[in-house]
Amino acid sequence: MAWPQAEDFDALAPETFDSTQAVYADLRERCPVAYSRAWGGFWALMTYDDVVAAAGDYKTFTTTVQNVVPKVAFTGRRPPLHLDPPEHTPFRRALNPLFVSSRIKAMEAPVRRFVVELLQPLIDRGEGDICGDFSSHLPIRVFAEWMNINDEQAAELRAVGRAFNIAVQSNIDEVVKETSLQLYAIARALIEERKARPLNPETDAITALLAARHEGEPLNEDLILGCIRQVLVVGIIAPTVMIGSIAVHLSRDPELQAKLRAEPELIPDAIEEFLRLYTPYRGFARTAVCPVTMGGREIEPGEPIALVYASANRDEAKFTDGTRFKLGRENIGEHVAFGRGPHACPGAPLARLQLRLALEELLARTKGFEVTGEITPTRMPEIGALMVPMRFVGV
Ligand code: HEM
Repeated sequence: MAWPQAEDFDALAPETFDSTQAVYADLRERCPVAYSRAWGGFWALMTYDDVVAAAGDYKTFTTTVQNVVPKVAFTGRRPPLHLDPPEHTPFRRALNPLFVSSRIKAMEAPVRRFVVELLQPLIDRGEGDICGDFSSHLPIRVFAEWMNINDEQAAELRAVGRAFNIAVQSNIDEVVKETSLQLYAIARALIEERKARPLNPETDAITALLAARHEGEPLNEDLILGCIRQVLVVGIIAPTVMIGSIAVHLSRDPELQAKLRAEPELIPDAIEEFLRLYTPYRGFARTAVCPVTMGGREIEPGEPIALVYASANRDEAKFTDGTRFKLGRENIGEHVAFGRGPHACPGAPLARLQLRLALEELLARTKGFEVTGEITPTRMPEIGALMVPMRFVGV
């Protein structure tokens, strides 16, 4: 690999909640295909057009080498994220129906119950960390319900999932590996259980994967295991961070907070604009399979490339006044917070459901809320709030 000597930005530079987007705005102007030496070196695509082009072109930009920068997957191949089409396709065919609107509608009552159970004690206390005390717990509860796993298994997943997240956030490779293997053990136990007692494949992911046939054959069992292991964490961190970032924005804009409280029917549109502005997965990675020239830069085969969704979503060439929150943007449907192309997030409807219900209940159960201390930001590959000390005034 022939890495350039100079780097365009330092991906390891300390960050604050607001600083990273300023760096990205500068890179979009100055150097839209940027190189950093961090984590062994990687390219970063900063503009909307480049990100969308790479996300759609799986023949040039493979996902099979690494999916995020820095690389965190050391413990095996996990579909769908780790496979390109056509190997990727049967896994998505099995998973996609589990997110249809009837299933999401059936999830609304339990998800609202989880939101209220977790949020009300925090509001009653009057202060706390919205991420640590609320939004880091919610997605695991939601996920356990969607996966049809019992309370005991959900408690285990909560403990291991949390340890895994903390290790990823702190870049402690040994603990990432260890907790990843524990997640495999949970996935393996769940598969054995479903084999013994299948559930309805229309509402159960593991049963659906076991029942799936590709060209008449069942899916490879090791890959089913990898897929369940993948799904066990993929939808957990983003909602945690996203809810924290929304709370920060609304604390800084009490007028918008009051407007959404008075007109809750605007919340779904607000969620889309928040997803654009505070895209929680900073970017996923691909690797060039052949020499590629982008933005005048020569990318060699084997070099990792971050598709920086969080930068693409603020690209002024695509979203006018892109750093500002604006309800009802005409092209808001084109944001890439959930990615694009074959790997675009299948869980988006479930993510939107929990974000909407969290915001509805937070606004309905408070007269106001504000940030009271320092916001701790997340790190690559996420971006946004990890800890937000807040004060709440209940109704
Ligand atoms: C705010 C919440 C969420 C955000 C922002 C988000 C974002 C994303 C993005 C950007 C990708 C594309 C990865 C790539 O380009 O390589 C992705 C993939 C994926 N997401 Fe989500 N996600 C969220 C929640 C969820 C939830 C709740 C689930 C499931 C319960 C889920 C399941 C998946 C899966 C299985 C993939 C891999 C798809 C594939 O490789 O074909 N996500 N997500």
